[in-house]
Amino acid sequence: MEQFETIFASAAEEAAKAETSRALYEVRMQYLGRTGSVTALLKGMREIPAEERPAYGKKINDLRERLEKMFDGRDAEVKERELSARLREEAVDVTMPGRKCEEGTLHPVTRVRNELIDIFSGMGFEVFEGPEIENDYYNFTALNTPADHPARDMQDTFYLTDEFLLRTQTSAGQIRLMEKKKPPIKMLSPGRVFRSDDDATHSPMFHQMEGLVVDRGITLCDLRGMLDEFARTMFSATSKTRLRPSYFPFTEPSVEVDVSCHLCGGKGCSLCKGTGWIEVLGAGIVNRHVLENCGIDPDEYSGFAFGMGIERIAMLKYGINNIKLLTENDVRFLKQFRD
Ligand code: PHE
Repeated sequence: MEQFETIFASAAEEAAKAETSRALYEVRMQYLGRTGSVTALLKGMREIPAEERPAYGKKINDLRERLEKMFDGRDAEVKERELSARLREEAVDVTMPGRKCEEGTLHPVTRVRNELIDIFSGMGFEVFEGPEIENDYYNFTALNTPADHPARDMQDTFYLTDEFLLRTQTSAGQIRLMEKKKPPIKMLSPGRVFRSDDDATHSPMFHQMEGLVVDRGITLCDLRGMLDEFARTMFSATSKTRLRPSYFPFTEPSVEVDVSCHLCGGKGCSLCKGTGWIEVLGAGIVNRHVLENCGIDPDEYSGFAFGMGIERIAMLKYGINNIKLLTENDVRFLKQFRD
């Protein structure tokens, strides 16, 4: 009996010292586990005289039951403490101010680019992107602008080597596409272009959107109709277009396209400098030499092309007066372009 009490007392003492449920489980196993001391007592029964065995066995069982109850009680205590410690640790202060995650906005150039792609893909145009580093042939020669052609002076070119340059116009992509694909062609080509030019409305890097349509029987009327549709969607439902004769080596005839001023409706204001019209793009009927250069028969096919500055469209549409605002990335400016 005494031995049993000593076992119980030491088990209770150790259990009280165990601070975690893991440690308590180990103590419990020392007494009640397969190799624990109570199990050892049961195994020792064989040495007890047969007549004393039942009484002895009952005492061991009593001891085991008491130990189990004691361990269960302690276990509940320890677990309770562990739980409240965890809750304290993981507590969330719901009154704390949150971290602000500000939503960004699309850059006005990106917005206009997306809008243009939207308008023209609705008319069946496919997007094709050419490289920013071009060679002389694609940027000039194939576009009917051979070396020493005076039209090369229309664009101040950044040459990288004698042969390679930063493309001055997305028109270079026209050639790349027509070399690969034969008519019918309806291509839209957005991208960066580079010119040594720098003032309030010109930047050495800007974006253009090029369009090219080649098929049988394409005329200036097709260009005109498509541009009217573009102007109405991009600027205002009552926008009109007007074509003025112009010159580009790769189109013949060439035109400059004006859109009626969306600010004054054509009456004349500061945006359109009193004329009622704003120049938005260059265009024309693809010069037959350009088609020939790409292996397309100009007697069978004809086409039109147009090219516009995306920054310019964005400035007109949003009333931005300096092109530099578009590259400075001042968030106070950019935040104003929200849906
Ligand atoms: N590439 C011309 C420019 O950059 C624009 C243009 C494109 C004109 C296509 C006619 C046809 O000024």
